[in-house]
Amino acid sequence: MRITIFGTGYVGLVTGACFAEVGNDVICVDVDAGKIDRLNAGEIPIYEPGLEAMVVRNHASGRLRFTTDAAEAVAHGEFQFIAVGTPPDEDGSADLRHVLAVADSIATSMQDYKIIVDKSTVPVGTADRVRETVRRRLADEGRAVDFSVVSNPEFLKEGAAVEDFMKPERVIVGCDDARARDALHDLYAPFNRNHDRLISMDVRSAELTKYAANAMLATKISFMNELANIADRVGADIERVRVGMGSDPRIGYHFIYPGAGYGGSCFPKDVQALARTANDVGYIPQLLEAVEEVNARQKHYVFKRIREHYADGLQGRCFALWGLAFKPNTDDMREAASRRLMESLWEAGAEVRAFDPKAMEETRRIYPGQPGLTLCDRPEATLEGADALVIMTEWNVFRSPDFDLIRDRLAAPVIFDGRNLFDPHALQQLGFHYYPIGRPV
Ligand code: UGA
Repeated sequence: MRITIFGTGYVGLVTGACFAEVGNDVICVDVDAGKIDRLNAGEIPIYEPGLEAMVVRNHASGRLRFTTDAAEAVAHGEFQFIAVGTPPDEDGSADLRHVLAVADSIATSMQDYKIIVDKSTVPVGTADRVRETVRRRLADEGRAVDFSVVSNPEFLKEGAAVEDFMKPERVIVGCDDARARDALHDLYAPFNRNHDRLISMDVRSAELTKYAANAMLATKISFMNELANIADRVGADIERVRVGMGSDPRIGYHFIYPGAGYGGSCFPKDVQALARTANDVGYIPQLLEAVEEVNARQKHYVFKRIREHYADGLQGRCFALWGLAFKPNTDDMREAASRRLMESLWEAGAEVRAFDPKAMEETRRIYPGQPGLTLCDRPEATLEGADALVIMTEWNVFRSPDFDLIRDRLAAPVIFDGRNLFDPHALQQLGFHYYPIGRPV
């Protein structure tokens, strides 16, 4: 099948590569000419396991092409995917400018029936606005071309996005006409072999499902972080509580890990956008607001612990920091807890020596020439003479470090762990002051 994808960001690129991988003919289009040049040269702008090889392979075979030419791209595909960004507005609602601009350029160039598919995370009612935008453009130009608008939200996890696309847990298709629904069914058939993963529904329910899923996951995390804070105060161990709770299949073990707060490009933005949608229709989303507030407080947790430990202040102190990405297996630092921590440390006059397996480039980009920040090429190199080690991302390489070396290199044996990687008693025995989250030491 012929597919056009607008947007070569995270979602667009993974979607394009995976559709090409199963034999479709895909054109990805982006307004950023530099990015398109780099993609055509085989340079992938993000780190995502398996993506680079897949893009290069399909690009070489001609099934995956990159262009800035929207008219050529619209002419190509029966399916026109919209996978452009929806950054939050100042008031937290999703900014639909890019989505509607793409809808308009599809309308401007289309000559025959198109299925326009919203893949971007967009508020309820966006498909209607896309439809209106296309209709208006066609009417302005006095043309009649048939089209359908479908909501097909993505459920990709960074770090596992290719795998999630190739073996989806579900494919949500929100659609009000049978022709488009059948076409989407055929398009997703290669990913839908052993079990029927395709769930059809009306457009508005599909749009809401995406926000509902992310808001539920964010709620689980904030709930656990709140419990960790209670555990701290009553002398209970949140990790024991987690295992005890999770054994109930209605609760389950997934996504109940306490930590330094959730980050990334989705949860913070989507919880706010859903709250905004609720407010817009006259409903006060108390729970969603609390989820956000608890998370904001949790992102401050590790810094608070550090500040409490050093009674004489943080001026002139130096911290070794392991982990900058908002979670492992990605170089993404959007809304990462590490950023909040570093900024607080700098403000308090402390220095940071940091290492991350993938996010060093991104850190340089976000904090160019930042005083008080040194990036080290190995985790051990951060330690020499530092006042403490702080862990903010649970990369596997941090899970079993050489504790003797850590103790020898640090100026004092102190570890602040924002991800509960170690056993508090074992660390105590090794002579560390260990500060986990929600665990007695
Ligand atoms: C999230 C969802 O998990 C995907 O299903 C969804 O498709 C995606 O957003 C999206 O809307 O595009 P992602 O943002 O890549 O995926 O990352 P997650 O793995 O969900 O992690 C989000 C944050 O929650 C991370 O900061 C992580 O450290 C934190 N987290 C996760 C916890 O603190 N505790 C947990 O138990 C799980």
